[in-house]
Amino acid sequence: MRILFIADVVGSPGRRALEQRLRAIRDEHAIDVCVVNGENAADGIGITPRLAEQLLAMGVDAITLGNHAFRRTEIGPYLETSDRVIRPANTARSTPGRGLVIVPSANGASVGVINVLGSLFLHPATSMFEMIDDLVEEARKETPVVLVDVHAEATSEKAALARWLDGRVTAVVGTHTHVQTSDATILPKGTAFITDAGMTGPHDSVIGVEADLAIRRMRTGLPVRFETAQGGVRIEGAVVECDAETGKASSIEAIRVPVS
Ligand SMILES: [Fe+2]
Repeated sequence: MRILFIADVVGSPGRRALEQRLRAIRDEHAIDVCVVNGENAADGIGITPRLAEQLLAMGVDAITLGNHAFRRTEIGPYLETSDRVIRPANTARSTPGRGLVIVPSANGASVGVINVLGSLFLHPATSMFEMIDDLVEEARKETPVVLVDVHAEATSEKAALARWLDGRVTAVVGTHTHVQTSDATILPKGTAFITDAGMTGPHDSVIGVEADLAIRRMRTGLPVRFETAQGGVRIEGAVVECDAETGKASSIEAIRVPVS
């Protein structure tokens, strides 16, 4: 079984890139299930129901989010009922939506998808380590194939979660920092791991934002309205191959597809 994870889709450049290329990438890699991190889909910050539906219509099976999950308030009611779009599991209990979904694939197997937030700078209501064992157990009641999107600032938190889950989930993929790391690997007990799957959007930028604006805010400390950059668009992510019976991963390959 082959799972495609697409890293953080940023604004219209990221969405357009997927519109143009996702079907071909799915075919090229014989993908069964595609999971996308969509927390930056709406002009670089948050996601709306309309944009979530657009991504799903492009051939995406499930969407994970992150620290910007609730920036667009209209997403709340949508998350309450969606069986495809999840928010981090360790946000406050009162927030709408859930952090685990079971996604069916065309070949009859299914994939459990879990989304959690790291602690550094992101201030989750609860540590992901407090929740993750129960979530994994819940997912594994339905399917041995489980993917965890760990949305975190600190590489150490992502590595620690992956090692903690080694042998219990198929893949742990890091998101949020938008810079693809070169450490894709299969851990000793069969869990695929990459610290950061990268960014699907404009790389001629400061992690998706027009560089001039990001620099101005950092140099002056004054509020500056960020705009999504446009140039150097790439689709980034990872392809994980696994045994659908055991959930063990056999390979993980980071992908970087230039689009403009
Ligand atoms: Fe984020």
